Amino acid sequence: QSLKIGLIPADGIGKEVIPAAKRVLEALGSDIPKPEFVSLLAGWEVFTREGYALPDETVEALKECDGALFGAVSSPSRRVTGYSSPIVQLRKELDLYANVRPVTSVAANPGDKPDVDLVVVRENTECLYVKQEQLTLTESGREARATRLITERASRRIGKMAFEIALGRPRQQVTIIHKSNVLSVTDGLFRETIRAVPKLSEVNGKYDSVKVEEQIVDSAVYRLFREPEIYDVLVAPNLYGDILSDAAAALVGSLGLVPSVNAGDNFVMGEPVHGSAPDIEGKGIANPLAAIRSAALMLRFQGYTAGADRIDRAVDQVIREGEVLTPDLGGKSKTQEVLDAVLKKL
Ligand code: NAI
Ligand code: MG
Repeated sequence: QSLKIGLIPADGIGKEVIPAAKRVLEALGSDIPKPEFVSLLAGWEVFTREGYALPDETVEALKECDGALFGAVSSPSRRVTGYSSPIVQLRKELDLYANVRPVTSVAANPGDKPDVDLVVVRENTECLYVKQEQLTLTESGREARATRLITERASRRIGKMAFEIALGRPRQQVTIIHKSNVLSVTDGLFRETIRAVPKLSEVNGKYDSVKVEEQIVDSAVYRLFREPEIYDVLVAPNLYGDILSDAAAALVGSLGLVPSVNAGDNFVMGEPVHGSAPDIEGKGIANPLAAIRSAALMLRFQGYTAGADRIDRAVDQVIREGEVLTPDLGGKSKTQEVLDAVLKKL
């Protein structure tokens, strides 16, 4: 038995950090089935060369894989004819309906409780991101409208994912993020559907131990910065989740530390939260820890908890000791040196 992993480094520092994550997976030995890697293309660079950002071969090859790791894409900020973000398209093609982003600070001593230890579970397929926008010309000037879609089906499945994640954590708490005091129809449906998840007959009481809280999105951001320790699992519609998960990442220092996965019922793709970082590309100083933690998170979703725990412990040790760190964390080390330090701890 082997574990087939698609590797899509894509652009910029994606090409520097994904190989590091690969090395860590190879070093796990018997904690996981022998990994087998398939290198795949996507991104801006392949678009400029071949005219498409997500080649069909990449999607087809991924369907034969047990999971994947994605680096980062350099998306142009202007509109480019024919270009659309491969990550958005991949989420659609593989039905990766959840974006899951754990944000955890490293405690000063092993065994201590970290100050920040939360997971943002973001619905990944609807809300304002259905991208139905219209511009009309009226007597008083231009008018722009956007459609916001919230369905019971998508809210229920993201809710189940959030409860499932909470069940595996010591505090077992889910906070529903919404603005149903203003958007009572759309956010109202989201809130109500998630509240009803523990009572679903097919769930069979499985989530009864999980505590359910809720918070209006603006006050959630305020409290996230004042007292992040109150949160465990936050579940949010697409737009609020997008903003909250970047905000939460700011609580732990560097983008170079924060992992994520895009998950569906049949596939999981790890992806560091950061972008392609053109300002440091090619210098060999990109922090590989977000990508390495993304590999661990992918394994966690695949059920390889022991392997995931081992990687996370090694990463935490390297950060705690503070001797081998890249410049984004105030250190002087190179990507390769940080990777070597992690491999040594493993
Ligand atoms: P960015 O995340 O690439 O960089 C922001 C800042 O953080 C830069 O100063 C960068 O050097 C630093 N940084 C990021 N990751 C780091 C790492 N691993 N180690 C050390 N320093 C790190 O975001 P930015 O600059 O806004 O976007 C650059 C490009 O990346 C754009 O083309 C953007 O569209 C794309 N991007 C792609 C994402 C994705 O693929 N999911 C997410 C965010 C941006
Ligand atoms: Mg974002």
